[in-house]
Amino acid sequence: MNANQKDAWAQVAAEAARLKQLSLIDLFAAEPNRADALTLAAPHLLADFSKQRIDASALAALEALAGAMDFSGWRAKMFAGAPVNTTENRPAMHWALRAPDAPEEVRACQVKMAAFAHRIRREIDAIVHLGIGGSDLGPRLIMDALKAHRIRGIEVRFAANVDGADVADATAGLKPARTLLIVVSKTFTTQETLANAAFVRAWGPKHIAAATAAPNKAIEWGVPASSIFPFWDWVGGRYSLWSSASLCCAIALASGPYQRLLAGAAAMDAHFRDAPFPRNLPAISAAVQMWNREALGHGSYALVPYSERLRLLPAFLQQLEMESNGKGVTRDGAALARSACAVTWGAAGTNAQHSFFQLLHQGVDEIPVELILNSGAHEGPASHRAKVFANVLAQARALMIGKPSSDPHRSFPGNRGSTLMAMDALSPEALGALLAFYEHRTFTQAVLSGTNPFDQFGVELGKEMANALQPALEGGQTPLGLDASTENWVNRLRDS
Ligand code: F6P
Repeated sequence: MNANQKDAWAQVAAEAARLKQLSLIDLFAAEPNRADALTLAAPHLLADFSKQRIDASALAALEALAGAMDFSGWRAKMFAGAPVNTTENRPAMHWALRAPDAPEEVRACQVKMAAFAHRIRREIDAIVHLGIGGSDLGPRLIMDALKAHRIRGIEVRFAANVDGADVADATAGLKPARTLLIVVSKTFTTQETLANAAFVRAWGPKHIAAATAAPNKAIEWGVPASSIFPFWDWVGGRYSLWSSASLCCAIALASGPYQRLLAGAAAMDAHFRDAPFPRNLPAISAAVQMWNREALGHGSYALVPYSERLRLLPAFLQQLEMESNGKGVTRDGAALARSACAVTWGAAGTNAQHSFFQLLHQGVDEIPVELILNSGAHEGPASHRAKVFANVLAQARALMIGKPSSDPHRSFPGNRGSTLMAMDALSPEALGALLAFYEHRTFTQAVLSGTNPFDQFGVELGKEMANALQPALEGGQTPLGLDASTENWVNRLRDS
């Protein structure tokens, strides 16, 4: 970290020391315009940061930090297709998958997907989508979130886990002769996906397709070349939902929504690329995340979408944020002075109010909360919409103002920060914008801490060890040199 960057962090720390002395209520009292001044708009999204422990002076310090970390430079590099994935010397061009002027190879794949979707819809009544991590979470989230846009008569099932119960469930009750198997794997080497795919192939689906960046491996495995939909090395797995990895969505959503999803993401890309830092929603939100994590010291944040259709968002974001930014070193390999992200966790509201909100309101640690609502039309009984809004507003307000009581058990400390984000609708465009927002926020957090968010070497060691242990668990010799605990378990489980 150079002297400039150290000074910028020192300034951020000084702002935090000042703001820690003040309550959120004090901040509102001191700034009559606070609610408006700290509400930012971006395509399909409105975000209110006024209930976070932050003010204009702290945001100015964070903007200076972004300058010192060359935020503009790294953003320009990403959108220019420069190798921002420095450890693997690759660009990160997920944004190009949804660009109105997408590269020719992307357009060709989209045309092939649309034609395939059109043809196959008549021949199937079910899709089994197999993939894991980025090859699962995004398409699964899209299908769940846009349930209202699904065409009738095509059921989509997902299996990711190598626990056989998952794939058994995914095929149960389906007719192989009316089922399309889609194997999604960037590398086409992932143990879980290949094990599930082998099982489903043996079950005998009428059609098999694959989405992969390793087409030769898919052909070798038995997918007809005409049913292979490429994506590319420059698309990270957790950023791949904009690619052929979402073939199931292109098939099972009514024609139009899939393109609208891409268009919403493209609108957010333009905002992120062009808006100045103080009005740039992903950038400001990243600054607030880093502020909470590093300046105020909150180790996690809770993500609570007040929308049943977004119940899978926390799982999706756990991979996006923690696989991207769960790093201990800078781009140059130096030990990180600061984390690039907090722990992401959460669940849909209002259900979450009846589980972990107790901890948020009265637990010893403050945990910042990110609340999301759909301010547009809601599905289901019309009378429920105001109830959802009342709950989300009440929770944010209760976290902030608390409630004193002479009975300590019934006292609420308050002064707990939250962000409220509103989508203008639960539309394909707004979902695309929301997911692109999170991608750019994740990228900006990495820039602010100096890390590369596009590699994930941390997932490799466990995979290697599992491969080494598997033969013993299938009846072979226990490998030499294991620690005593692992050796005991291998012996116990092999003989069980
Ligand atoms: O868990 C590591 C990981 O490589 C993720 O980054 C990725 O999304 C997932 O595995 C699946 O990989 P693939 O698409 O190559 O099967």
